[in-house]
Amino acid sequence: MPSAANQSARPYRSIPRAGFIRMLTTVITGQDRVDMLSRLRQQYEESGKVVAQNAGFIRMVNLYGPDANRLVLLDKDRIFSARQPWMWIMGRIFPNGLLLMDGEQHKQHRKTMHEAFTRAALHQYLQRMNLMIGDGLDSWLRAPRPFLAFRGFKELTLDIAASIFIGVELGNETKQMNGVFEDLVAASMSKVRLPIPGLEFHRGLRGRERMIQYFAREITKRRRAGGSDMLSRMCNAESDEGMRFGDQEIIDHMIFLMMAAHDTTTSTLTSMTYELGRNLEWQERVREECRSMKASHLEFDDIERLPNLSWVMKETLRRYPPLPVIPRVATADFEFERYTIPQGTMVVISPILTHHLTEWWDEPYRFDPLRFSPERAEDERHTHSWIPFGGGPHLCLGMRFAEMQVKAIMHQMVQRYRWSVADGYTMPIQQAPISKPLDGLPIKLEALQ
Ligand code: HEM
Repeated sequence: MPSAANQSARPYRSIPRAGFIRMLTTVITGQDRVDMLSRLRQQYEESGKVVAQNAGFIRMVNLYGPDANRLVLLDKDRIFSARQPWMWIMGRIFPNGLLLMDGEQHKQHRKTMHEAFTRAALHQYLQRMNLMIGDGLDSWLRAPRPFLAFRGFKELTLDIAASIFIGVELGNETKQMNGVFEDLVAASMSKVRLPIPGLEFHRGLRGRERMIQYFAREITKRRRAGGSDMLSRMCNAESDEGMRFGDQEIIDHMIFLMMAAHDTTTSTLTSMTYELGRNLEWQERVREECRSMKASHLEFDDIERLPNLSWVMKETLRRYPPLPVIPRVATADFEFERYTIPQGTMVVISPILTHHLTEWWDEPYRFDPLRFSPERAEDERHTHSWIPFGGGPHLCLGMRFAEMQVKAIMHQMVQRYRWSVADGYTMPIQQAPISKPLDGLPIKLEALQ
């Protein structure tokens, strides 16, 4: 056992159990997707930091709180597999993505991929992105009312992805690719995973085939010609040890990257728009800060110079982490809170619950960006109390990219528009598998200038 053998360790069977029937009911009725936080909080309050929850043949344990996050994410003993649970969740549609790799293979691939995420690369992506953001936001003026923010961001981030990730300009081809890609993402989340024509899952598998064919054609060109988009960088990336990606590896990484980037960023932008649409003093504060830069576009060197916008983004990710839970499978026995947890157990940690624990956050259900200011720094009470991007070896590779994209869009949005939600409106949220509004988030949008 990797952790020091402990005389007083308690066996697995003594771990408090969550009611299986109650869990099953919340999953079947869809209640778990809508409000997972309430179920997790109830478990934590009733049973503490370790709760067993067996689902059929799968032995599952929820570990709650920042110490559990640190143990599982840092994975000092290298005993927690990300590949096993993520393969089970999305392996048919996104096999061999970076998150679906473990150990040495994961390390080598991550190093090689770094080439597509250097400062210089991000700098170039931002220049290209800025032009598209302006056009995309302008088109909102002509959109039907009430304006649905979620739809608006989804289209915008898809168009940006086509340009930044693949290097294609807006046009019919982009529209088709975006449609195929949406099918893929929908399939990875679908409840019924059978390849039956007409079902979401089947459309996703077909979409995957089309994406593979498209990328295969492009890769040959990009290996020769190069380019500043992510695909071209992946084609020509080489690690310090001289590792280069084969064609199929590039295809799998690209499809996974687009998925990892798309829904998470759309989710963050939508939740931010919601909070700024009902906390109008914060919207004004961010607007003033962005205007004071006296630039219509966000420059790369200014990303870190917008403290109010940074706090709003962090607070949004705390309240609405796009990934509410993070799964692993233990490949060896380990101990936590003096319980012995056996090899083969599915271990689930929970950003969404940790972000709402009163032990670590003041009034955690309140939207309060100043908690991230240097004076209060509530996030520094523990290294793993704020984990929207995960941590350790699988820390989100696109974290800086996401920060850049969200800030670049918000920077232009607050200068072009003022928006609000209806009086008394509360956004109906689906928290899992990825946080999003159930009603598309209708907002009242008013053009400025
Ligand atoms: C606000 C936006 C985002 C959030 C909240 C987010 C969150 C996460 C989380 C929690 C993980 C770790 C999952 C785990 O450990 O099981 C992760 C991994 C990953 N993310 Fe993100 N992500 C975001 C945006 C992006 C973007 C924009 C990209 C790419 C451009 C990206 C690429 C990846 C990749 C490649 C991994 C796997 C890393 C590895 O396994 O080494 N993400 N993300």
